[in-house]
Amino acid sequence: MSGFETIIYEKDGGVAYVTLNRPEALNAYNIQMRDDLYEVLGAVADDPEVRVVVVKGGGDKAFCAGADLKEFMSAPPPTQARMIRFQRDIWDRFSNMAQPLIAALNGYVLGSGIEIALFCDIRLAATNARFGLPEVSLGIIPAAGGTQTLPRTIGAAKAMEMLLTNEWLDAAEALRVGLVNKLLEPQDLLPAARAMAERIASYNPNAVRAAKQAVRRGQDMSLSQGLRLEKLLARSI
Ligand code: CAA
Repeated sequence: MSGFETIIYEKDGGVAYVTLNRPEALNAYNIQMRDDLYEVLGAVADDPEVRVVVVKGGGDKAFCAGADLKEFMSAPPPTQARMIRFQRDIWDRFSNMAQPLIAALNGYVLGSGIEIALFCDIRLAATNARFGLPEVSLGIIPAAGGTQTLPRTIGAAKAMEMLLTNEWLDAAEALRVGLVNKLLEPQDLLPAARAMAERIASYNPNAVRAAKQAVRRGQDMSLSQGLRLEKLLARSI
């Protein structure tokens, strides 16, 4: 699968690699990238050979510096409406991925970049990563799930601080608040993501998918509902 303008898609054994690839614009997320990602994620979801997906940024400066501000700020209303539609579709697509997603985060992880990272199940970060949500300072709010996924990940108090102040976290602080799972030196980030992905890909895919589903869906349930879900999933493997 190739030919995307803004994404590089690669497969190696059971691991798929999705690279946000606009390094000249710090991998800013534009409508073309939404279209490309939507297509790639759909194909990955339908591909039983793919057991784990690694999402990363092209170049060495950024995972993603958020929405493409040049496009976003100049778009006419119908384009904005289309953009919102794609954000919703992308959100559905990301949140319904059966395979685990690992984010490999380096450099700038801003706005939509954090939102993409939060759709992932495990976040590995380079020590040079910086995390921020500039939306409110731009007169908007995150609209690709960030107001919901961030507090569910790091708690309401810290999420509120990030959202309202636009103060950015360095990698150490991101680790401390639980925004990322692990820190690595920049040169070790992709090898670590690959090793982790290959390890997960070596396990029974039904067990892996069931474990992911139990945690993901369980987060929106009461404990008793979650325990019922766990029982059902355990029987289904
Ligand atoms: N959109 C479009 N282009 C961007 C961009 C963005 N979000 N971020 C960076 N770029 C471009 C710059 O315009 C520049 O291009 P040129 O060389 O053609 O001028 C190139 O990437 C390199 O950027 P800088 O020269 O600015 O690099 P820097 O290291 O000096 O600064 C930065 C890096 C602090 C991240 C700065 O680029 C920046 O503040 N970018 C904007 C971040 C931002 O506010 N993102 C939007 C968040 S809101 C959101 O994502 C939600 C939503 O849906 C709207």
